[in-house]
Amino acid sequence: MNESLIYRSPAIYGAVMHVLYGRHARARLAAVAELIPRGASVVELCCGPGRLYRDHLRGRGVDYLGLDLNPGFVEAARRTGARAAVRDVGDDAPLPSADIVVIQASLYHFLPAPEGVVHRMLAAAGRRVIVSEPVRNLSSSGIGLVAALASRSADPGSGAGDRRFDEASLDAFMRRYARLVEREFAIPGGRDKVFVLDAAAAAVPAGASEAES
Ligand SMILES: C[S@@+](CC[C@H](N)C(=O)[O-])C[C@H]1O[C@@H](n2cnc3c(N)ncnc32)[C@H](O)[C@@H]1O
Repeated sequence: MNESLIYRSPAIYGAVMHVLYGRHARARLAAVAELIPRGASVVELCCGPGRLYRDHLRGRGVDYLGLDLNPGFVEAARRTGARAAVRDVGDDAPLPSADIVVIQASLYHFLPAPEGVVHRMLAAAGRRVIVSEPVRNLSSSGIGLVAALASRSADPGSGAGDRRFDEASLDAFMRRYARLVEREFAIPGGRDKVFVLDAAAAAVPAGASEAES
């Protein structure tokens, strides 16, 4: 199975994520959903097929918009009832405004310089930015199938290749936002780490450059 097939089919992608996360697959999304108040507006970057919306936000009065590079995933997200659009969120343009701006399991796509995307998330969010990112490199798993799937599910053609965070490199990267961190915690199973940033305290004017903030 090649990586483009994994990214072409939302069903296969879902199955792969299930193998990778095992019994913690649902907890990963639930941990993020719990940080989103009922009725909030939400923009999710790199939303994939919209699982956060489908499994946790639909029916909670949330005004949701998912953005993803992959038209097949955007179409799948729309089929769940979500608002979703095809967008390269690494394109340096301002992001749509929302109370909460989220990115899950995708910050590594913007290595080696993920600060641009986080900066634009802070500028777009009225209340909170949520970054949830894998910190255990499953590609180096001793379980062959898991390692193969992890390596092939990492890159939809964005050029992220083998670049990933581990806990130390994610902590080091997030240190620059230390004054904004409301919470940080590992999801059950410890594969992903979540950072919750107070976007209101960042007060980055939309369109301002990083150097200005
Ligand atoms: C590992 S998946 C994570 C999907 C979803 N967030 C989740 O947690 O299940 C990474 C996602 O990032 C998307 N992606 C990668 N680079 C992107 C970019 N520059 N702009 C928008 N989406 C991107 C891929 O299409 C894919 O849906």
